Amino acid sequence: MSFPKDFAWGVASAAYQIEGGHDADGKGPSIWDAFCRRPGAIFDGHTGDIACDHYHRWQEDVALMQALGVNACRLSLSWPRILPDGLGTVNEAGLAFYDRLIDALLTAGITPWVTLYHWDYPLGLQQRGGWANPDSPRWLADYATICARRFGDRVRHWMPVNEPQCIVQLGLVNGSHAPGYHLPLADAVQCGHHQNLGTLLAAAALRTRASLPAQVGCAMAAQGMIPLTDSAADITAARTATWRVPSDYLWNNSWWTDPLFLGIYPEDGRRALGDPRPHPDQAEAFATKLDFCGINLYFARVWRAGPDGTPQEVPRPAGYPRTSQGDWHMTPPVLRWAPRFFHERYGVPVVITENGHQNLDHVHLDGKVHDPQRIDYLHRHLRELGRAVAEGADVRGYFHWTLMDNFEWALGYNVRVGLVHVDFQTLKRTPKDSFAWYREVVRVNGANL
Ligand code: FCB
Repeated sequence: MSFPKDFAWGVASAAYQIEGGHDADGKGPSIWDAFCRRPGAIFDGHTGDIACDHYHRWQEDVALMQALGVNACRLSLSWPRILPDGLGTVNEAGLAFYDRLIDALLTAGITPWVTLYHWDYPLGLQQRGGWANPDSPRWLADYATICARRFGDRVRHWMPVNEPQCIVQLGLVNGSHAPGYHLPLADAVQCGHHQNLGTLLAAAALRTRASLPAQVGCAMAAQGMIPLTDSAADITAARTATWRVPSDYLWNNSWWTDPLFLGIYPEDGRRALGDPRPHPDQAEAFATKLDFCGINLYFARVWRAGPDGTPQEVPRPAGYPRTSQGDWHMTPPVLRWAPRFFHERYGVPVVITENGHQNLDHVHLDGKVHDPQRIDYLHRHLRELGRAVAEGADVRGYFHWTLMDNFEWALGYNVRVGLVHVDFQTLKRTPKDSFAWYREVVRVNGANL
């Protein structure tokens, strides 16, 4: 396998899932701080109050990344750590924390890729209506301006929002994530629209205010669709399934990515979901296009051409391999097909902004953490990514989710996704077998896959 010379090999994380320090040094509350206190919301009542205590142990964690040999790291900034109310007064201690972290990463030879908003939305903004408020796109752009001014002399790669689909579907429709709402579809679509506009206004702000040239992308909860076989008909079926918007369904790709790269919503989506209400900043926002397409990919649905040529889903047979996250099947070709389909449609570089394996790892009798399932998952997936590259998809990087076991949202600490095991009683970090395996892949730029 051969990967481009400057390929970004990284690990990805999010502030709320690792930092802890939930009220340290002037940080304001986020919707996740509040949601975790709601009885029954999170597995066993877990919270991110302490998480991996990365806020205090960041030096140890940067050293781990350095030992891993990655040249890039995707991290998120906590919006309420920087702006305790979400807007207005800036918390200097919050900015200073990320100054130290970014400097340490750069010193370690690790390029920071920064997500501005990975779900820990400031509670103060939610109390003003959150993404339903027509001012919400500007709130994100104003926060982006602050970050660009402060970190834009050292950071080049930015992602304003992580997984807008999940924010809207899980947080605002299903209620399984913060803030736990059950909005009607039209209201959810409007919130999503504001988020898209905010992403584009934030991109423009980052480009104007950062002193280094800013590369701005998304980090989509990409819905991977793969063909059952390599026949032209099955490939067409998978491509069609990738881009269509089924009725009333927010788990799709083009409704979320088309506005960011093409400045429009897809026709079938407008019929299925209805047009969002126009917003005064819409024309200005849609004049901006993102630079790279970041896709988070964990599993895929499988398609073949039906008798009339239309896509027909092929269900996974009983006992099909899966991760410990129930419906996340092992479908490695997702890393071959999704980069190809996304690159074809938007013509911009693609980055795998997340991919990884949920497991129930524990420390074995010999004191080590053996995680052969994760190694096999990664091996299979990265080989398919190599195929995508060989077949011409412009893929610039791969960020493994995640460096260390963390707070997995509504699942609390009940699944483990890291290359490093964390004992959540003592906070001791133990690199797993997969850590050494991934280190070797990075060292030889994927040549051993
Ligand atoms: C993604 C989230 C990320 C993490 C992984 C497992 O949907 O972006 O924070 O929880 O799933």
